[in-house]
Amino acid sequence: MDFDSYLKEVKELNHHAHLYYTLDTPEISDNEYDLRYKSLIEFESANPLQVDPLSPTQRVGHAVSGKFPPFQHHSKLPSLGNVFSREELEAFVERVQKGLDGVMPRFTVEPKIDGLAVAIHYKEGRLEVAATRGDGLTGETVTPNVKTIRSLPLILNESVSLEVRGEIFMRKSTFSELEETFANPRNAAAGSIRQQDPQVASDRKLDIFLYQGVGVSIGTHSQTVSHLDSLGLPVNPNVPLCNSVDDIESAVDAIRQQKDDFDWEIDGAVIKVDDESYQDQLGFTIKAPRWATAYKFPTEQVVTRLLDIDVQVGRTGVLTPVAKLEPVRVTGVTVSNATLHNMDEIERKGVKIGDDVVVQRAGEVIPEVVRVQKTYPDSRSFEMPLNCPVCEHEVFHEEGDVAYRCLNPLCAARLKGNLEHFVARKAMDIDGMGKQLIDQLVDSGELKTLSDIYYLTFEQLEALERMGEKSAQNVLEAIEVSKTRPLARFVFALGIPFVGQRTAELLVEHFGSLEALLVASFDELLDVDEVGDVIAQSCVDTFQSFAFQHELKRFYDVGVKPEFKESVVASTKFDGQTFLVTGTLSSYSRTDAQALIKENGGRVVSSVSKKLNILVVGDKPGSKVEKAEALNAAGAEIQILDEDGFKAALEG
Ligand code: IVH
Repeated sequence: MDFDSYLKEVKELNHHAHLYYTLDTPEISDNEYDLRYKSLIEFESANPLQVDPLSPTQRVGHAVSGKFPPFQHHSKLPSLGNVFSREELEAFVERVQKGLDGVMPRFTVEPKIDGLAVAIHYKEGRLEVAATRGDGLTGETVTPNVKTIRSLPLILNESVSLEVRGEIFMRKSTFSELEETFANPRNAAAGSIRQQDPQVASDRKLDIFLYQGVGVSIGTHSQTVSHLDSLGLPVNPNVPLCNSVDDIESAVDAIRQQKDDFDWEIDGAVIKVDDESYQDQLGFTIKAPRWATAYKFPTEQVVTRLLDIDVQVGRTGVLTPVAKLEPVRVTGVTVSNATLHNMDEIERKGVKIGDDVVVQRAGEVIPEVVRVQKTYPDSRSFEMPLNCPVCEHEVFHEEGDVAYRCLNPLCAARLKGNLEHFVARKAMDIDGMGKQLIDQLVDSGELKTLSDIYYLTFEQLEALERMGEKSAQNVLEAIEVSKTRPLARFVFALGIPFVGQRTAELLVEHFGSLEALLVASFDELLDVDEVGDVIAQSCVDTFQSFAFQHELKRFYDVGVKPEFKESVVASTKFDGQTFLVTGTLSSYSRTDAQALIKENGGRVVSSVSKKLNILVVGDKPGSKVEKAEALNAAGAEIQILDEDGFKAALEG
């Protein structure tokens, strides 16, 4: 084969792969494909410098080293709100109509596949980069793994640049071989896409469908889907259009009925306003679009025998009763543990060991015991232990509090929970430090506090069972890399009671540095958005404790330097002002307008309140203007600017 015929063959085989994997309409036999694929490999091994990056063989790329580089999404990947019933669906449609000044728009309905969201960027028709959703703003670059998805074209039918978003999933048939490793196909898909070696992702035969194009404004969602289809991207092709709640409901029912016929998990249907200008008009809440929602299918319930009740101790010391069940299949997964939440719930439901109980599982949610189906004369009551099942410290229970707690700060279960929280992906993200390793290190006395992680040595790690030289080195590198995580993640990772991810971000944004945060008084903490008495007190108590200060010193000493990076600020013109942009502007997209506001020191909010300073109003603004006017009539001072006024403010 010469170079020209090689290039021709690459093109042809890509075409056949597309026919086979995406369109399900192969024109050549598998055998022929395999033979031709082999001869590509032969040419490539003999001429490594001439390998076309678009060759089908390159779908299994070279291993990425170390970690996955972070990827800043160009715009946020939101999540979706939920409805569970006809009534909630009606309420959703009503809210949409209200936002559109009474207009009843057209809706699309499509299956909601239970996988993981990705953003894929094509540049001039070529797949350039793919990233996981991550926290919606920053994901992980997993391009080599995404490239192994056979149904995803490496090159589009047209030389266009665009971002597409969709859902990666694993077929149920593939999952059945991996059932022992993963709890469900969703986890299996997520686990596979985060493998260092793309060969693993390739073997796991992932699949994808795309449901959104960013920056391809065509007019309607259904047209966008056809456009993606025409570019060669795998989409869900039959998007029914609905003009009424009845239409929507029957489209959802149709999906529900086919659910078990699909070779992938579907956990509901997604309902979207079709017209993109209506979508713009409706906009987003902090979390989700107002123009779309998920209609979740009810959870599956099964009956099984409650064999025993175990007690688990979490990182906050709370004791959770866990049902040990006669193993049973629920939504395709074998369940043998389910949560009973707490003692009050056990009493309220009258659960006794030996009973037949109803268990339910919904999507990612932990399975739970719903109620007793049948009790037996020899069923026995459960009581909370008087001592912690892990450290034997006396259990503390305050009258009126549902929780039973182990208050021993050195309890191994609490320590393990805190360590798992600290290294988690949303916290310090220390790859390779999983539950198993933490268990080993705590049990052997190597880890007694969070900061001990940074004092681990190669020798200590390598001496552990099942730990090779290479893995020990990898863990140490991951620990090293985590030293400069953003400050908000560090604050979250510390596990301060009541300080979740969002609160950590707000605290850091408000105080700007760890030093300032640590000396903040109770009243100063209350000034932070969304921080109330409970959080403020918890921070003060934590920061003042001797143990905490000792820990911080050890973090500093070993070079843990979380950083607070301010966003790029071009001017401070809008300092301290809050803005909201509503309606369509003619010279800026809404995202651009918001970026300009932030660059000039302003803050963008999503709802009208009396704290709002400036409302920027474009075309077809919806109800926000009325709300602002009503608030002004009641004494608020919201400045309402049209597009020209906004421009003048920017320039002024
Ligand atoms: S649209 C702004 N469509 O469900 C639009 N999402 O629970 C946001 N998902 O994060 C998403 N199938 O990962 C959309 N047909 C579909 C979907 C879908 C599955 C996922 C997606 C999203 C999550 C929200």
